[in-house]
Amino acid sequence: MNYPKEDSIILLYDKEKGKKHIINLKDIQDSYSTSNGMIKKETILQTEFGKTIKTHLDYEYVLFPATLNDFIMKKLTRLTQIVYPKDAAYIALRLDIKPGYKVIESGIGSGAMSAVFAQILGEKGKLISYEKREEFIKNALKNLRRFNLDKVVEVKHKDIKDGFDEKDVDAVFIDVKEPWLYLDKAIEPLKCGKMIGVLVPTVNQVSLVLKAFENLPVLDIDVSELLHRFWKTNPERLRPLDVMSAHTAFLIFARKVC
Ligand SMILES: C[S@@+](CC[C@H](N)C(=O)[O-])C[C@H]1O[C@@H](n2cnc3c(N)ncnc32)[C@H](O)[C@@H]1O
Repeated sequence: MNYPKEDSIILLYDKEKGKKHIINLKDIQDSYSTSNGMIKKETILQTEFGKTIKTHLDYEYVLFPATLNDFIMKKLTRLTQIVYPKDAAYIALRLDIKPGYKVIESGIGSGAMSAVFAQILGEKGKLISYEKREEFIKNALKNLRRFNLDKVVEVKHKDIKDGFDEKDVDAVFIDVKEPWLYLDKAIEPLKCGKMIGVLVPTVNQVSLVLKAFENLPVLDIDVSELLHRFWKTNPERLRPLDVMSAHTAFLIFARKVC
């Protein structure tokens, strides 16, 4: 039996309109209001995931656990560009992020990538996030708190031009405007043999990153981008959607040699 808990993040799916409401149950008092009526918190807690739930006006929603992907795409407050889930999942795999690891990232931006790292790292892991702008830190922590992931993240309100305080971390991820200026500092805290990842939106930036890597102790460099196209789900008229996010970012990975 799979029921929501007091701090579960749930998704109420409006079957008729395909609309999704994402709610952290710890944020609601007695009831949740929709444009189609109210649902008591108690009713949500007593409904199994996957089952239908009715408002006081008899309008039906289906109750699901919200995924981190739902949260990032629908609920996260964006004050900066974010790392999209398709890139974030691949970045986590390429950096070989595991529960319990210690990882550095910069900057925190809106916390989208941080949330993905934090979910994989778990309570025994640690993400140290360097960010130079206070307003972004506040917003990102608010986002992480809404998905119960803030405890895994230690934010340092610092400019990475001054370097990193840590030693022997398992992975480094850099998503700042001019990463080539900081790559020498960014590979210092990395354990020998481990991976660094860099995200940039333009090819001009890729060139500058590659030039910077030429003078650093790294090997096995690669550059890639991921294209992710959604399809309509009508089995009789199966075809891609008309619009796609054609470009999000270029990803560059390398291994540290010692
Ligand atoms: C594109 S955003 C990062 C987005 C983030 N990865 C996410 O998924 O939400 C870039 C961030 O890097 C920060 N930043 C840029 N240069 C920096 C520096 N030298 N030191 C620390 N943070 C920096 C910016 O303030 C901004 O918040």
